[in-house]
Amino acid sequence: MENFYKLFRRDLKTKRLELRVLEPTEENARLVWDAIKNENPTNFKYVNWTPEYKKPLPESFEETLKQMKQEQERDVIPNGAVWYVFHDGKLIGHHGVFYFDNNKSMQSGNVWFVKSAQGQGFNQEIWSLLMKKAFEELGANRIMRQCMADNKQSQKSISGSGFHLDGRVRASTMMPDGTFMDQLVFTKLANEYGK
Ligand SMILES: CC(C)(COP(=O)(O)OP(=O)(O)OC[C@H]1O[C@@H](n2cnc3c(N)ncnc32)[C@H](O)[C@@H]1OP(=O)(O)O)[C@@H](O)C(=O)NCCC(=O)NCCS
Repeated sequence: MENFYKLFRRDLKTKRLELRVLEPTEENARLVWDAIKNENPTNFKYVNWTPEYKKPLPESFEETLKQMKQEQERDVIPNGAVWYVFHDGKLIGHHGVFYFDNNKSMQSGNVWFVKSAQGQGFNQEIWSLLMKKAFEELGANRIMRQCMADNKQSQKSISGSGFHLDGRVRASTMMPDGTFMDQLVFTKLANEYGK
């Protein structure tokens, strides 16, 4: 895992974006809260907040800080890397990955952009960099990405990055309103990268 930590748990840059590792401090939570507080929760219905936050968005600064701390413990410490995404110095989104060293397998984490930053190719731009690092530098054999079956924008984004649809996992996710949603699973293998 040392290689994963070294390559991924650090600030990264793409052509238009900066991916910054933010510790769950009050100052950083304020940045996140300021970016999301006026967003419409219906645009975030597929975002997978930590278990206690079965709602699309935190509803206060305090909840944002708590959610960042939970994420640090649940996702980052075991085997993840999480970034906040900045464009022109402004926080516009969140991104992350997990790594399973025993299978040389990477998995997508929780991703979202504020509404005004969606549909500009930012997600694909980030994945171009993550795929390069994973396949060329880390030696990963596989990257898996998942999305809810009716999240059309996410499906377009994932297929647009050349991922293969492996299948549909039925009723795998319970939504905040108690209904069950299928997940689509996409993968790309090392021997498909760059083709
Ligand atoms: C799902 C989500 C992460 C996808 O991110 P995104 O940045 O919008 O997606 P992409 O990087 O694939 O953007 C591609 C779109 O940008 C457009 N685009 C504009 N400039 C572009 C560029 N330079 N390069 C590529 N695409 C560009 C494309 O035409 C495409 O538009 P279309 O989807 O209308 O055809 C984002 O929409 C989001 O945050 N949704 C809400 C949260 C959510 O659902 N999260 C869970 C995801 S599983």
